[in-house]
Amino acid sequence: MGKFLENAWYVGAWADELTDKPVGRTLLNQPVVFYRTADGMPVAMLDRCPHRFVKLSGGEVRGAEIMCPYHGLTFDAAGTCTHRRVNDIARERFTLRTFPLIERYQAVWIWMGDPACADPDLIPEFKFFSEPGRMIAGKGLTYLKGNYMLEIDNLLDLSHLDFVHAKTISNGCVTEGQYDVYQHGNTVHSDWFIPKTKAPIQFQDLIRLSKDPRWTATQADMIVDHWLDMRWDAPGTLFLDVGVAPAGTDRGGPIDMAQAHWVTPETEFSTHYFWIYSMTDVGQGQDMLDLFLRVVHIAFDEEDRPMIEAQQAAMGTIDFWDQHPMILAEDAGAIRARRVLDKLIREEKSGRNDVSAAEPVSELTGSG
Ligand code: FES
Ligand SMILES: [Fe+2]
Repeated sequence: MGKFLENAWYVGAWADELTDKPVGRTLLNQPVVFYRTADGMPVAMLDRCPHRFVKLSGGEVRGAEIMCPYHGLTFDAAGTCTHRRVNDIARERFTLRTFPLIERYQAVWIWMGDPACADPDLIPEFKFFSEPGRMIAGKGLTYLKGNYMLEIDNLLDLSHLDFVHAKTISNGCVTEGQYDVYQHGNTVHSDWFIPKTKAPIQFQDLIRLSKDPRWTATQADMIVDHWLDMRWDAPGTLFLDVGVAPAGTDRGGPIDMAQAHWVTPETEFSTHYFWIYSMTDVGQGQDMLDLFLRVVHIAFDEEDRPMIEAQQAAMGTIDFWDQHPMILAEDAGAIRARRVLDKLIREEKSGRNDVSAAEPVSELTGSG
């Protein structure tokens, strides 16, 4: 399986990708076929017919079963071959591996490790999906040719906004702010706070529309307190609260875009990056939502992705640590995440992994 944490939930697909048309996707080096049965149940199984190894994702869903496109063998949702030409001995011997799935937060979460450990409570919480006063405003899936930890690095070190996204989602202020890192158990927080700054452009539109009286004075000068609070859980589950409040109000009357970023390795050198975001509902119309989604696509697909792919190409296949990277204060979140993940993988490989184990609280503060 390579250098991946197996006993963990990964996002394998968007819930609305799963229909009666099979979807083939490689996750952690394993080919997986997803589909939805006629009863609406999501299914994930090894995407490899045991007969002559054709991908079942090229086949057809029939009720609860999937049929191989080559010689028509059928498999039920438990991976058992149901075809009449197959005898009981072969049926038992060639049952396909299926993977535990949970549908939550508009996504399908898949457990690639020991099914007995697949506890749904281990999926980190994303409250914004059900908070009043906000709307889910956009989502996407970015495929990139780079190791998944490079994408996680990118998300945990948002100083790159001032450079990579200077023309789209940044006002260039992030690196003037204060940076804080702290850790609760295996959860790493990597936060920026920028007081008294001009609101980033996408927030200016929302501020202008806000009817909240706390925003009235700010609507003229757009000077705000701005934060970007990122939370990471192993292996690739990130929550970002990025928002603004009238300057000096201690985050009173916030307008924010709570987001989820879910990073799933395809192989050691390629990644499926799922992202979804919400917005405070200030009565923005569909045109504004569409425009913002286009900007986000540019940011992730045309700004982050080429940077990460170029980074991977420059690094080649040599391990990150073996390249002796320079470490800056604002890398602290990303470095902590790497250490936590390395530890969890080491423990898993040595059989000591308790997937719910928490470490003592520890703190580290970077300079602003
Ligand atoms: S390869 Fe699938 S049925 Fe023959
Ligand atoms: Fe970015």
